[in-house]
Amino acid sequence: MKSSKFYVVTSLVGVVLLLQSCSESNDTNSNAESSTEMTESDNENQNSEETGDSNHEEGSDDNLENDILDDSNILKLVNKKYSLSEDYIPEDLVNLEVPTVLENAEVNQLSKEAADALKEMIDYAKEENIDILARSGYRSYKTQVQLFDNYVANHGEEAANQFSARPGESEHQTGLSIDVTSESVSYQLSESFGETIEGVWIKENAHKFGFIIRYPEGKEEIAGYQYEPWHLRYIGNDMAQNIYESGLTYEEYLVERGIDIEI
Ligand code: DAL
Ligand code: ZN
Repeated sequence: MKSSKFYVVTSLVGVVLLLQSCSESNDTNSNAESSTEMTESDNENQNSEETGDSNHEEGSDDNLENDILDDSNILKLVNKKYSLSEDYIPEDLVNLEVPTVLENAEVNQLSKEAADALKEMIDYAKEENIDILARSGYRSYKTQVQLFDNYVANHGEEAANQFSARPGESEHQTGLSIDVTSESVSYQLSESFGETIEGVWIKENAHKFGFIIRYPEGKEEIAGYQYEPWHLRYIGNDMAQNIYESGLTYEEYLVERGIDIEI
């Protein structure tokens, strides 16, 4: 654990970096932070689809109905209608052990299960010569306040609402969402990431590791945000597989399962 003084300094630097370029907004966020590419040791991790070792089997729809409302459940639904409480902080945040972009202690964390799945995915991709980096993982309620306020100041509230969640409405606060990127988009969060070999690989493979692309192309109305090929939500192997096969957003999938949610 770093000293609190160090943490405060890095947190402040981190927020500035986030405000500069963690934008989920558009392709203009080109401030270059040095990427901290780490050397990953070759890992014999198996594809989780092959092992099928999810701890979270989908239960009955009654359970599902409860799970999506439970802040600490991996199925928690977070969107403009379903938020997290201001004081919610995941209990099992761990530091990422994958290549990261930002020098920011807070965003280089995820909940343990999501962090392990991310490492498994990035290591697996690396074996196929696909280099994926993590850019922004956990964000506290307070960080989201600063981000959203800054976007509103710079782009106006209507525009900010299309690409940034309001505090409490960001999946990043769950510790289960990660923004990924690659050298081919200069380590930024860009829509063009979806067309890169890394972005295509993510589209075709993320579900095998328990992740879904939460804000798909053409689903802006229902997802509530513009297309974000970089924003992954960890939701467990079974659910990710089902949602991937359905071609639906999480919200649409829940409705199809007969769960009565507000859209
Ligand atoms: N960009 C997504 C919507 C977020 O701010 O959580
Ligand atoms: Zn994101």
